[in-house]
Amino acid sequence: MSQVSDFHRERIRSVLSSSRLMPVITIKHPEDAVPLCQALFDGGIHVMEITLRTEHGLKAIKEVREALPDAWVGAGTVTCLAQYRQAEAVGAQFIVTPGVTEALLEFALTSEAPLLPGVSTASELMLGYGLGYREFKFFPAEVAGGIPALRALNGPFQDAIFCPTGGIHRDTARDYLALNNVQTVGGSWLTPADVIAEKDWAKISEIARGSLSDIS
Ligand code: 3PG
Repeated sequence: MSQVSDFHRERIRSVLSSSRLMPVITIKHPEDAVPLCQALFDGGIHVMEITLRTEHGLKAIKEVREALPDAWVGAGTVTCLAQYRQAEAVGAQFIVTPGVTEALLEFALTSEAPLLPGVSTASELMLGYGLGYREFKFFPAEVAGGIPALRALNGPFQDAIFCPTGGIHRDTARDYLALNNVQTVGGSWLTPADVIAEKDWAKISEIARGSLSDIS
């Protein structure tokens, strides 16, 4: 059976080790994508997960890739193969799913962009583990058991590394990052909807800088 390639593993590790915080971004107005991601970049966050939760996600990925060649730009909330292909076609450098299906896990092995699969149980982890996945999104982190669950998963899966997201905020990120199986923490607190609505890009940079400073 095929396994996660060295290239994919290196790419996902590079992405995760490039930032301890990963903004989970939803674009409601297409013109916001580039200034929002530029503001995050200026605030010190160089990895972005742009979700496909709105019709603007794919275009946003394409534009941000062009505007910020030094950032890692991934597609989030990918739930089917069609979206995976579309995200790759617009240049997504990695793909994040909220959960796993065997079809997605297997498709990703031969795709161009590597997958960070979402899991919340030991059984889902085992599905990925068997195919060589060792880096996972842990979602929805807070309701799936949060820090105690991640500690417990570290028993049977000692070489699994997680990017928890879902219900994590600026004041709780640090506690997650203190775990030895957490490399990066993700969330939407870095891009508050009201700040985006005001197009207050300086405030977005300030939140990024402040959040990075809180975890350092
Ligand atoms: C995700 O897809 O990772 C989550 O929607 C982020 O969760 P949050 O909005 O609670 O940070």
